[in-house]
Amino acid sequence: MDPSLLRLEPWTDADLALLRLINTPEMRKHVGGPETEEQVLHRHRRYLDFVPSGIGCMYRIVLAEDGTAVGSVGYAERTWQGEAVYEMGWNVLTPYQGRGIAAAATTAAVAALARLARLPHLHAFPAIDNPASNAVCRKAGFTLLGETDFEFPPGRFTRSNDWRVTLADRPA
Ligand SMILES: CC(C)(COP(=O)(O)OP(=O)(O)OC[C@H]1O[C@@H](n2cnc3c(N)ncnc32)[C@H](O)[C@@H]1OP(=O)(O)O)[C@@H](O)C(=O)NCCC(=O)NCCS
Repeated sequence: MDPSLLRLEPWTDADLALLRLINTPEMRKHVGGPETEEQVLHRHRRYLDFVPSGIGCMYRIVLAEDGTAVGSVGYAERTWQGEAVYEMGWNVLTPYQGRGIAAAATTAAVAALARLARLPHLHAFPAIDNPASNAVCRKAGFTLLGETDFEFPPGRFTRSNDWRVTLADRPA
């Protein structure tokens, strides 16, 4: 997909509606299933707080043509194997999948992060049986480090791939 057909816009209060559209059994098949209303509201508040607290940024992915919100992509700081890193995640609503939207939006989000990153590394941890998400990593320039048992949601370990971008190596 031509990246100019998409825009990344910072998360706002109005994006709770988008989060609810993402919270379906199909969309959340690889990330522990749908969340409760309380968990969705908590996630929404966390996304709103990423920028003010300086730990990350969540975006809604918007079609440039008509402003339709079709998904989300974003990152936040976390500790991984003793190192402070960024972790990125993405969602594209089912009717819009398979058009290259996630790959283009993730490539743009990585480039935006590379311009302002304080930390050297960005990771993503798709489940090994999530081929679309692993393909997004590959297309957005992540390097596969190997498999790991990734804890998400808390208390539940999923066999996942550890993909990484060294941000200093990315063109500004
Ligand atoms: C993962 C997700 C964001 C991909 O969105 P998308 O916009 O359909 O992805 P793209 O169209 O950019 O496709 C990226 C690549 O994935 C491949 N792909 C897409 N669906 C696939 C599938 N079911 N099996 C194998 N490959 C697939 C595409 O072929 C493409 O690679 P290619 O260009 O080399 O052919 C979307 O499926 C989704 O939101 N899933 C539910 C949420 C989720 O799992 N998020 C990730 C959590 S780690």
